[in-house]
Amino acid sequence: MKIAMLTSGGDCQGLNSALRGVAKSLYCRFGNDVELYGVRDGYRGLIEDDIRKMNRNDFSGILTLGGTILGTSRQPFKSMCLPAEEYGGKTRLEKMLETCKKARFDCLVILGGNGTHKTANLLSEHGVNVVTLPKTIDNDLWGTDLTFGFESAVNIATSVIDSIHSTAFSHSRVFIVETMGHKAGWLTLYAGISGGSDVILIPEIPYDVDEVCRVLKKRKKEGKPFSILAVAEGAISKEEAALSKKEFKAARATMKEPSVSYRLANEISARTGQEIRVTIPGHFQRGGSPCAYDRMLTTRFGTAAAELIASKKFGCMVALQNNRIVPVPLEEVAGKLKTVSLDCDEIRAARAMGISLGQAE
Ligand code: F6P
Repeated sequence: MKIAMLTSGGDCQGLNSALRGVAKSLYCRFGNDVELYGVRDGYRGLIEDDIRKMNRNDFSGILTLGGTILGTSRQPFKSMCLPAEEYGGKTRLEKMLETCKKARFDCLVILGGNGTHKTANLLSEHGVNVVTLPKTIDNDLWGTDLTFGFESAVNIATSVIDSIHSTAFSHSRVFIVETMGHKAGWLTLYAGISGGSDVILIPEIPYDVDEVCRVLKKRKKEGKPFSILAVAEGAISKEEAALSKKEFKAARATMKEPSVSYRLANEISARTGQEIRVTIPGHFQRGGSPCAYDRMLTTRFGTAAAELIASKKFGCMVALQNNRIVPVPLEEVAGKLKTVSLDCDEIRAARAMGISLGQAE
């Protein structure tokens, strides 16, 4: 049996632990009857036939290792079916299908997020046996309660907010901690609540800067010397939410600050006279060792993927639903984003704790 594995899109904690979960479980089940192959740098390696045979040792000692031993890259889904000059006029999809046909893989195991799943589904529709595992610190993949990487990133972002607390207190300052997440606010919401933030701004709830200022002034009046705002990199103002996609892009292109947090800091400072600092942990949130929860989750996902391969059930993503690992058909996952719904438990908990979400209630 020949199985190839690839990791695609932005990296996160737990990729190596997930590869290990799949590999160890396949070796345990099939012994020397299984051959494992590693595709370099995600779909780039499949397009260019950059694949190497792996052995058992490759998967030893990687449980706690950050990043991915296979490398990764972003290959936009929209480019997959377009003729590419660098590939002699062939499409990237054609090149990938050629590689799979030549190698005669029994299954391709793909670890990735949203964009990755669209291409995985495309390969599956073209006859490639595919099993996928859901990764991303954004936790925005449809069909699974959790993606791996998310819990580790929440831990990091929360510890940033924790550290900011003491300096914010000492200097009686307002701090903005900007967390990752362009379209989905899960990471900001979880870290914001876990870190005890006073204001949480996420892309799903356009904020009103006057309301944010009202909350900060009220806190000051109540004798609270500092405030902490957890702001998603994709947070948008209510004025921006009213713009068309084109107008929004144009407005952001002319924004003079490097990110939404700096703009917000300027606006709050101008309106309240309060001193504001911005902290952006950035890719720090995606780096380093997976937390224990992610090690466990990836081990469960990896072993479930091996079970699907053993029972020849392809075209599926392994998912966590109600604390059970279940297969979900790729066509149900591909192209769908799981954003924060306004009536979810986490939003209710935030409101119940008196956390402002940037809109008057
Ligand atoms: O998709 C995960 C993610 O970390 C997002 O939260 C973030 O906006 C983006 O990737 C950053 O991408 P890049 O690695 O290309 O800088």
